[in-house]
Amino acid sequence: MRILSGIQPSGALHLGNYFGAVQQFIRYQDEADEALYFIADLHALTTVRDGATLRERALGLALDYLALGLDPERAILFRQSDIPEITQLTWILSAVTPMGLLERGHSFKDKTARGIPADAGLFTYPVLMSADILLYGSDAVPVGKDQKQHLEFARDIATKFNVAFQPGYDPQDPRGEASGVPGILKLPDPLILEEAGVVPGVDGEKMSSSYGNDIQLFLPDKPLKKRIMGIKTDSTAVEDPKPEPHTLLPLLKLFCDEAAYGEVLASWRTGGKGYGHYKLELLERFHGFFDEARERRRELEQNPERVVEILSAGAERARAIARPVWEAVVEAAGVGGDTSALLVK
Ligand code: ADP
Ligand code: TRP
Repeated sequence: MRILSGIQPSGALHLGNYFGAVQQFIRYQDEADEALYFIADLHALTTVRDGATLRERALGLALDYLALGLDPERAILFRQSDIPEITQLTWILSAVTPMGLLERGHSFKDKTARGIPADAGLFTYPVLMSADILLYGSDAVPVGKDQKQHLEFARDIATKFNVAFQPGYDPQDPRGEASGVPGILKLPDPLILEEAGVVPGVDGEKMSSSYGNDIQLFLPDKPLKKRIMGIKTDSTAVEDPKPEPHTLLPLLKLFCDEAAYGEVLASWRTGGKGYGHYKLELLERFHGFFDEARERRRELEQNPERVVEILSAGAERARAIARPVWEAVVEAAGVGGDTSALLVK
């Protein structure tokens, strides 16, 4: 079982990223035979338009991953743009991707619906993501709920490629169990942690680095406290029961076991405690949960050269894993590979 996933270095990691995605990454490095995790810097080009910033964020995200428990002995950590085959495969896949499929893409649709002009990069974003997944023959991809459609696209695009380039391929039988002809590109399964659902931000909307409502994992103590104390609340009196649903509840739930959350809910519903009490409890639990990682990140920051070595070794390992798939793609599509292949009929 080969697991793969990536995160864009477009902002600092926040609680939604951790509970929706990274937490699973850490778990799968033990459960899977092979786990590949990357920094999706090419994807981030759709929003970050400054080379120095993008490099800094890519290194920062590597520090985040490592501080949160990603172990380079058990998982392969690398930077997307260090694998040149990714952009080549993106082009090859674009050639078999229907326009209609991309036009259905949520992120593209949302942006255009809001009147924001979209670049071709945003439009073809799902093709690049499909290349990420398919190049390594990934079996399963842990992601947050919002990425579900992208996983479906990766399966559809793999099917299109296989139908086009693999004679005898039956899309009803992708592994070739009956036909004996498996696809060149393997169809990946999504791994979506339903319990985490969508983590809300300080304003109650979906937490996202681009909405300015996130609680970042590595924010220094003071701004962190300010952020959590600033969670939107109303003027319900201390002694009164508090309204539901409320942002504070799912946030507290992330850190509580069943019994602890039961206690939170009980006092929330009877009243007697002000919002400040719950915010401080959240802050305390946040520290209890993340302080070890926060400390580890401070240590890692002292030695960025080590992190660069990890990324560079990771890229080499990832490329080696990609090689058989890449060779099969090149052979089937009739492009790339060794020039001498032109002589082979
Ligand atoms: P952002 O919206 O902050 O830019 P990304 O889109 O880069 O976050 O998401 C990185 C990963 O974190 C994805 O797998 C995504 O599903 C997950 N994720 C992001 N925000 C949330 C959230 N609020 N709740 C749950 N998972 C999330
Ligand atoms: N699009 C993903 C996100 O915004 C990041 C990503 C890029 C990814 N390539 C991927 C995730 C491949 C899983 C597999 O979160």
